[in-house]
Amino acid sequence: MTESLTIRRPDDWHLHLRDGAMLEGVLPWTARHFARAIVMPNLVPPVVTGAEAAAYRERILAALPDGMTFEPLMTLYLTEDTDPEDVAAAAESGLVKAVKLYPAGATTNSASGVRDFDKVRPVLERMAEIGLPLCVHGEVTRREIDIFDREAVFIDEVLDPIRRATPGLRVVMEHITTAEAAAYAAEGDETLAATITVQHLMLDRNDMLVGGMRPHLYCLPILKRGTHRPKLVEAATGGSPRFFLGTDSAPHPTHAKEAECCAAGCFTAPVALSCLAEIFDEADALDRLEAFTSLNGPAFYGVPVNEERITLTRGAPIDIPAKIETGAGPVSVFNPGRPVHWRVT
Ligand code: NCD
Ligand code: ZN
Repeated sequence: MTESLTIRRPDDWHLHLRDGAMLEGVLPWTARHFARAIVMPNLVPPVVTGAEAAAYRERILAALPDGMTFEPLMTLYLTEDTDPEDVAAAAESGLVKAVKLYPAGATTNSASGVRDFDKVRPVLERMAEIGLPLCVHGEVTRREIDIFDREAVFIDEVLDPIRRATPGLRVVMEHITTAEAAAYAAEGDETLAATITVQHLMLDRNDMLVGGMRPHLYCLPILKRGTHRPKLVEAATGGSPRFFLGTDSAPHPTHAKEAECCAAGCFTAPVALSCLAEIFDEADALDRLEAFTSLNGPAFYGVPVNEERITLTRGAPIDIPAKIETGAGPVSVFNPGRPVHWRVT
C-alpha cells in the first residue's frame, strides 16, 4: 500500500475567497496547500470590470499572512453590460485569467448574472478571439425545471448552443455533478474542460438528506443521486486531461448555514487535498492525483506548472476541526462523515 506521495504543489481552479474579514480568515487555509487559485468574482457587488479585479487582487494579497505565498488568478463576472474591450484589456495585461458566467439567480450572489444570452454574444466572440476561457456555472434557473435536472438541461439548452455559435471559445464546465456533464466534457475537444469538487466526488444526496438535513453539505449545484458519483470519480481518476480540481470551497458563517434558509456552499479548503487523496486511493489511482490537482489545470489555462512539491502521507484518520474562527464569525469545515487517512505533511 502506498504510504506517502509527493506531487507538484496543487492549484485550485475554482475558489471563493470573499472579502474583508472573511477573506482574511479563509485565505491562509487555501494558501497553505495551493499555489494559485481561480478566484470567483461573486462578491456583493460583483467584480465586473478590470479595475475592480485589480483592486480585489490587491485586497487578497494584502490579506495574505507574512511568509505565505499565493497567486490569485482573477476573473470577471459577466453581465449583460460587460464591455468586450474592458475584458480584452484585462486579459491582455495578464490580470484576468477567465470570465465567469452565472445564469441570473442560479446560486449565491448571482442576481447580476445573465438572463438573455444573446446580449453577451459580443463579449464571447472577443474572448474566443483572444483565447480567454469562460467559466460556466451550468444550471438553468427556470422554476419548472427540477433542481436535480438543472445541470443536464443547461448542457442541451444553453452550453452546447453557445459553443456551436462561438467556435474556438474556451469553456470550463465548473463543478460538474452529473454523468451527463462528465460525458459531455469527455467528448469535447481541447477547447473544453471541467472542474470537479471534493464533495461531489465523495458524497451523494443521501448523505445530505437521509436521517436529517445536513446544511453543511448543501451547495450548488446540489449533490445528486448516487449513480452520478462513480461517473465523476471515473472522470477525475481516469487520466483525461479535460478534468481538473476546482474545490468551489465557498465559506459562509455557520449561522448562515444553520438557518431556516441555508446558504449554498461547502467550506472544503482545509481538507480538500486530504479528501482527494482518500478518493484517489480508494479508486487505486494515486498515480493520477497529480494530473488532476497540479498538471491538467495549468495545461488548459496555459500557465506553467508549479515547481514546488508537497507530500501527502497515509496514517491514522485525521482530525477535522468542526469550525475555523474568522473576523466574520465561525465557519464550519466540510466533513465527509467518514475517516480520511491522508494528511499534507
Ligand atoms: C457558491 C458561493 O457560496 O458563492 N456556492 C455554492 O454552493 N457553490 C456559489 C457557486 O459557486 O455556485
Ligand atoms: Zn463556486
